[in-house]
Amino acid sequence: MFRSAAAISGHLVGPLWGKKVGASLTRCLHQTLTMAKRLQAHRLDGIDHNPWVEFTRLASQYNAVNLGQGFPDFSPPDFALEAFQQAISGDIMLNQYTMAFGYPPLTRILADFFGKLLGQELDPLKNVLVTVGAYGALFTAFQALVDEGDEVIIIEPFFDCYEPMTLMAGGRPVFVSLKPSHTPEGGLKLSSDWQLDPTELASKFTSRTKALVLNTPNNPLGKVFSKSELELVASLCQQHDVLCISDEVYQWLVYDEHQHISIASLPGMWERTLTIGSAGKTFSATGWKVGWVLGPDHIMKHLRTVHQNSVYHCPTQAQAAVAKSFEQELRHLGQPSSYFVQLPQAMQRNRDHMIRSLRSVGLDPIIPQGSYFLITDILQIKNKMPDLPGAADEPYDRRFVKWMIKNKGLVAIPVSIFYSGPHQMDFDHYIRFCFVKNEGTLRAMDEKLQNWKAELKP
Ligand SMILES: Cc1ncc(COP(=O)(O)O)c(C=O)c1O
Repeated sequence: MFRSAAAISGHLVGPLWGKKVGASLTRCLHQTLTMAKRLQAHRLDGIDHNPWVEFTRLASQYNAVNLGQGFPDFSPPDFALEAFQQAISGDIMLNQYTMAFGYPPLTRILADFFGKLLGQELDPLKNVLVTVGAYGALFTAFQALVDEGDEVIIIEPFFDCYEPMTLMAGGRPVFVSLKPSHTPEGGLKLSSDWQLDPTELASKFTSRTKALVLNTPNNPLGKVFSKSELELVASLCQQHDVLCISDEVYQWLVYDEHQHISIASLPGMWERTLTIGSAGKTFSATGWKVGWVLGPDHIMKHLRTVHQNSVYHCPTQAQAAVAKSFEQELRHLGQPSSYFVQLPQAMQRNRDHMIRSLRSVGLDPIIPQGSYFLITDILQIKNKMPDLPGAADEPYDRRFVKWMIKNKGLVAIPVSIFYSGPHQMDFDHYIRFCFVKNEGTLRAMDEKLQNWKAELKP
């Protein structure tokens, strides 16, 4: 099922890295516009630095094993590839515009599929919006709902775009951290041990709170919020009349008998929740950039206004391929032949492989119950590490990752980038690895770790 694909990472980092560029292009790159007026909009203040750029560049420069970015380096399932091929070679009208809010067969199947899961009768025209990836869904939601001065509660660690998206909409992010509970000596560390303090969470709600962003399964931690945790969030949202933006792009990727629960399915939550999904994560095709948002019409109509006046609609052929892929899944749902059964089984094997590999060198991964990421504590090996270059105020995990890429040929992502500025130093001793990788990549990781082992072992 998981056919290995050629190295994808080269496509992800700009083709310019490491190559000579033509004279005219160089001139172009060096010409800067000087304006008497302020050039960039104020809404970009404070969000113009993106830490991903540096780690992506280093990964390609050192030709390291890339366990950083969250994309599969294996092929999507055959049925999805065939659906895409059919979409580009079949009906010529799929080359043209479609309905602004989604290609009708896709909105219909999303309504049918997710209606069953959410326990709601969904109207494809009113309750579904197809977007350019889950990113597009998030951006549309923030633009449609968050106003100047509105507060948005974001649970840390968080998928890093939530903060700039809140700021760009004029909102004020308010952060609350999941905190690890104490693990007895020698006990397993689990992502479920990271919890919200109910009193602290409640204290973040004010009369200005407009929305809370939930991400389950969580990136980067892999935590799957339990029913009781979701009930706590739900009751606070209802008590304070707050919307919930629920990012559920990893909903199929849950392990060890854990269950993903959509907060919109809890009593009283459908009316105030937007549920966001991604075909990229669902069908291992992140480049297709098809996402969706589901919700009640009284909220969705505002998202439609943003969507209609920004991207208008997403590529028709990609939508057609996703529609066909869902049709296929609907026929297999819950059976061993379902991709939504096979993918998590395969990823659980990858997760366990990675855990064994990291443990064999003395690292201490926190076992995720969902997503395709795990984070590992690097404190245990800090005393075996050389002095790392970098500014004193640069979080340790960032210096560690840069050193690891250059010296050990392994790419991970420092977890502090998933925290707000004031909390980064408190969580600067974890790094995130991505395990949605093919066997060859995992074996290459094993090799790198084994070479490192001699230095790390006590
Ligand atoms: C939690 C989360 N939400 C949204 C996205 C974006 O998804 P898409 O690729 O569909 O835009 C990602 C991608 O990594 C993610 O991890």
